[in-house]
Amino acid sequence: MTGATRATPPGPERIEGRAKVTGTARYAFEHPVADPLYLHPLRATIARGRVTSVDTAAAERVDGVRLVLTPHNAEALVPIGDPELAVLQSDEIAFRGQLIGAVVAETQEAAAHAADLVGIRYERMAHDSDFRDDADVVYTPDADASPMLSPDLELGDVDAALAEAAFTVDATYTTPTEHHNPLEPHAVIAAWDDDGLTLHDSNQGSHLVRDLVAPLFGVDKERVSVISPHVGGAFGSKGMPHGHVALTALAARHTAGRPVKYALSRTQMFELVGYRPPTRQRVRLGADREGRLVATEHDSLEQTSRFKQYAEQSASASREMYTSPNRRVTNRLAALDVPAPTWMRAPGEAGGMYALESAMDELAVRAGIDPVELRLRNEPEVAPVSGLPFSSRNLPACLREGAERFGWHERDPRPGVRREGDWLVGTGVAASSFPSLFFPGSLATVRHESGGNYRVEIGAVDIGTGSRTALTQLAAEALEVPVEAVELRLGSTEQPHASLAGGSAGTASWGSTVVEAVRAFRTEHGHDPVAGAETTAGAGKNPDAGEYAMHSYGAQFAEVRVNADTGEVRVPRMLGVFAAGRIVNPRTAHSQFRGGMTMGISMALHEHSVVDERFGHVVNHDLAGYHIAGNADVGSVEVDWIDEHDPHVNPVGVKGIGEIGIVGTAAAIGNAAHHATGVRVRDLPLTPEKFL
Ligand code: MOS
Repeated sequence: MTGATRATPPGPERIEGRAKVTGTARYAFEHPVADPLYLHPLRATIARGRVTSVDTAAAERVDGVRLVLTPHNAEALVPIGDPELAVLQSDEIAFRGQLIGAVVAETQEAAAHAADLVGIRYERMAHDSDFRDDADVVYTPDADASPMLSPDLELGDVDAALAEAAFTVDATYTTPTEHHNPLEPHAVIAAWDDDGLTLHDSNQGSHLVRDLVAPLFGVDKERVSVISPHVGGAFGSKGMPHGHVALTALAARHTAGRPVKYALSRTQMFELVGYRPPTRQRVRLGADREGRLVATEHDSLEQTSRFKQYAEQSASASREMYTSPNRRVTNRLAALDVPAPTWMRAPGEAGGMYALESAMDELAVRAGIDPVELRLRNEPEVAPVSGLPFSSRNLPACLREGAERFGWHERDPRPGVRREGDWLVGTGVAASSFPSLFFPGSLATVRHESGGNYRVEIGAVDIGTGSRTALTQLAAEALEVPVEAVELRLGSTEQPHASLAGGSAGTASWGSTVVEAVRAFRTEHGHDPVAGAETTAGAGKNPDAGEYAMHSYGAQFAEVRVNADTGEVRVPRMLGVFAAGRIVNPRTAHSQFRGGMTMGISMALHEHSVVDERFGHVVNHDLAGYHIAGNADVGSVEVDWIDEHDPHVNPVGVKGIGEIGIVGTAAAIGNAAHHATGVRVRDLPLTPEKFL
């Protein structure tokens, strides 16, 4: 690895950094509990059908086994409308790998061994796990399928505009199933006592887990505690609790108060906690002689599960990106007998912008216009669909600054004409965008301990992004004290309610909450508070919400080398320049952007969960078979950002940075690969055979 050319920017180091690298930070599974038992799941080995019988006798005879739980002896849960959480509530099987029981034993080994001895009989039914254009069940997603779902859009007359356009592109792009692979797999410890349920759980929102698990077991929310002080990475799969949380809590009902521990294996991560669904996206663009878009059409077909609807809505990326008087955007779901997909870093935008930004490159080539210039010519003055002004939009600055720093202007636009030894060399660009979200409803408690030292509590989860550090900084700044004078407590339902660590909305939502709580504290206690003075408050509704279109933007530049003989693709150099509002901590922000771009390299070159539709499962279900970018895949990844002051977006001016780094990366790499070779690959990942 050649490393970034820019030194690590300043900003406080991660508060918990030392604890993490020395192994003293406790992750969910490591929390010390007295007298634990271990759970090993039973999982369906067919893709659709019914469990007809379960023979548990041999398993129950294994030394140390305390419980064998099946659909036939599990207690009833309260239906709360989430099929993933309704574990063991029927004998129906909706996907291969589905949880159909559990063995709980004194050791992990005994539980695993006994699970092998459980005899399960099935009634098989025909299944369909093959994602294809003409899937049997295709439908328009319901509005409740995704919190960010946008309905179909039809503005003007796309077909007529395309017929008259000077330049057109009509191309179909496909993206594969991808699985989240945080370093720490999902893990939970569940224990019931007279007070209720305690979960030590690796998640992105302890309050959300509590709010779903409590009604599932018919208990008051106050009787469920969810604790998650450290999380070893999360990319969306930990956003909602999945079946394993319900299963472990269900099992712990039978263990007389003994805690039950369950950590998913890497293989189980490929079946039980969601994934980014595959997509087929058709993009049609039409432009006039000057390269101004006259028509934009983006239609996406995406996989969902028959068992539970999830809408990726990749096509929605084309709603507000560029100006275009005629526009059509549709998202359709193909429902299959597969596990439920879920959010994965920049859901929608990651795949959707791959398609749109690849199509923009194709249009640039066709029109003979530089691809940076083409994007600049299609900048909208206001948000194209809503007509709202942008709270701030600095995509042109990102493109110009990036082009300058990358050395874009020396570029010869002709594809396939640069060769260095065995390698064809090219460069590519893509734009990126992600909505700036704010989740209301969080609260923070500010307490003056003594001598100018404060304690701030908010139940937000730091999934490894640096939230603990950024929130401490924002609290210290508002309190006008050094960061060392603020002790931040977070991660659990013991602290005031906090929204989900998702949608890149953490620092915006919780930071605003902390700042408003400090203001309320000052109003109540003045500038010289007594020891023990305390206030709990949250951020009110943003008066500018609904008045402005709020997004972050970026420009991604890539240099790519493709081996002329083998088709191997290398990415020696990337530059991302972003405009994302206030950057609270340059050090941790740099790491978020660079991490997103690295995941984008991974998406471009490697990530692909291969489904064997005959059996309905992912065959490369471990990190030996499922490739993610390693150090050797990553060359120089340079990151910078535009200083952007956005007074509308929220009280702290933060737009969110967790996801935008992955948006546009794969398109920039694909566009550079085309520039290198003249071969346009429209199917991720960019594996060698596609260039030969
Ligand atoms: Mo993210 S995909 O909002 O955790």
